[in-house]
Amino acid sequence: MKLCTKKAVEEARERNLQLPEEKNGLILTLTNTDGKKYGGMSNKPLEEFKEFVEIASRADANVLEIGAAYGTPYLMETFKKESMGHYTACELVGDQLRILATRIEELDPSKLSNLTLIAGPFPRKEVVDHLQEGGYDAILALHVFQFLTEEEVVEAFKQVHRLLKPGGKLFAKVMTPYNGITRPEVLQKRAEEVQNYLVHKTRPLPGFVKHALARSHIKDSVTDDLLKALGITTDLHVFQFDRDVMKAFLESENFLIEICEYSPLNFPPFALDGREHLTIVLQKPN
Ligand SMILES: C[S@@+](CC[C@H](N)C(=O)[O-])C[C@H]1O[C@@H](n2cnc3c(N)ncnc32)[C@H](O)[C@@H]1O
Repeated sequence: MKLCTKKAVEEARERNLQLPEEKNGLILTLTNTDGKKYGGMSNKPLEEFKEFVEIASRADANVLEIGAAYGTPYLMETFKKESMGHYTACELVGDQLRILATRIEELDPSKLSNLTLIAGPFPRKEVVDHLQEGGYDAILALHVFQFLTEEEVVEAFKQVHRLLKPGGKLFAKVMTPYNGITRPEVLQKRAEEVQNYLVHKTRPLPGFVKHALARSHIKDSVTDDLLKALGITTDLHVFQFDRDVMKAFLESENFLIEICEYSPLNFPPFALDGREHLTIVLQKPN
């Protein structure tokens, strides 16, 4: 659903929707209509993907962010620039977009015309029907594709390819299986599935975990209270991305891979061995 930006501001004010307080650099996201919570928005200054903001700051640019939450530091940084293009923020939880709109209105009301708000689940039809085929210079998707099913992950990358302009880029960050909360025996099983995929290249892509936070999957030391404090509900399914699987898959989807490498998440209890995140930068060929 497309939200009118001015109406979004009015509704946020009427309903007194506020940006929640930040704790340890994270602002927990709101509960979705399905009763699930999808983690927190990072509120730290940008450390990487500065190229996304450079592209978004060009007056003729058209960019899209998927899982934009309440206005990520990337979005806010772009709207603080004197010059910028058009920014479409897509987010599952509509009230987060309403709060985002108030933040832009407080920053500079004239910039609301540079913003489009799409509420709903990417890559489902109700969302992608509002997006422009071949229309985007850059797409940003941070910590969002991990909440999709295997079919949705495949569809998400197909849609990203369809939506980018030739030469346009995707900047993404996702979780891997290699984190400190997963039981070692589960990791061993995943390694076998990965090897099998790399030999046969047949779907499903390994990585989907239906009950990711089930006791059979996570270590006993990770308590329900700890997960609650991290803004995660225990009934979540996740997709965990392996680097080699993704390299093979993304090449088959006709992307040019600039970066597809592990990166660390030094955040307990997730920290393990520096492979907790997968950083992805892709280009659609010209
Ligand atoms: C872990 S938070 C990350 C927020 C932000 N991208 C960041 O990195 O700080 C995940 C966000 O993605 C949203 N989300 C989850 N599934 C989504 C989907 N299918 N389409 C769009 N947004 C989604 C959640 O509501 C939440 O705001």
